[in-house]
Amino acid sequence: MAAAKIAPSMLSSDFANLASEAERMVRLGADWLHMDIMDGHFVPNLTIGAPVIQSLRKHTKAYLDCHLMVTNPSDYVEPFGKAGASGFTFHIEVARDNWQDLIQNIKSKGMRPGVSLRPGTPVEEVFPLVEAENPVELVLVMTVEPGFGGQKFMPEMMDKVRTLRKKYPSLDIEVDGGLGPSTIDVAAAAGANCIVAGSSIFGAADPGAVISVLRKSIEGSQNKN
Ligand code: DX5
Ligand code: ZN
Repeated sequence: MAAAKIAPSMLSSDFANLASEAERMVRLGADWLHMDIMDGHFVPNLTIGAPVIQSLRKHTKAYLDCHLMVTNPSDYVEPFGKAGASGFTFHIEVARDNWQDLIQNIKSKGMRPGVSLRPGTPVEEVFPLVEAENPVELVLVMTVEPGFGGQKFMPEMMDKVRTLRKKYPSLDIEVDGGLGPSTIDVAAAAGANCIVAGSSIFGAADPGAVISVLRKSIEGSQNKN
């Protein structure tokens, strides 16, 4: 069974205090730190790149789960590998022609490859990547249109999660966008095990309690199966 991983989205943290925010999340029980990399082109927002990952890496040993919302993911593999990224998740919409090389390259730089899909992209598109000889190890199902934190969860994306879980019982299936105490149960029941949450964690009076609610929901639904 794929272990529960709670990944606070650092996009909702205080970027001016990234190291201490990372330390705080790990202390409060985060498994991974989700890093949203946006290039202002694949999505209409611009965030951080490899230099910030490199600086953060000097302050934390945490697993840095990098979600690349960029048009040219292959250009980012080497700098992210050098910077100390742990996971490198690219979008299928910009890698339809070169995902095999991309996965190979990500692995050769010591990172864990993942693939993400926008809400409008059919789930079937990622099957070949999971079934490849050199496969992705995580599928990130977007539950909002990528670009910004704080948007509303799209429950209709749970069909994708259910399909993936049925086909791939031990795959890491991550959901991202609008997750929090009020939406976690449907995601957990559908079979997601990696949960990204930004505004629901950072906006809470007690972020540690939210992390533990998310984890308990995943573990509770895994125990039912
Ligand atoms: C959206 C990003 C998310 C975002 C999630 O493009 O990929 O990781 O930060 O934020 P919330 O949890 O606030 O929807
Ligand atoms: Zn993300």
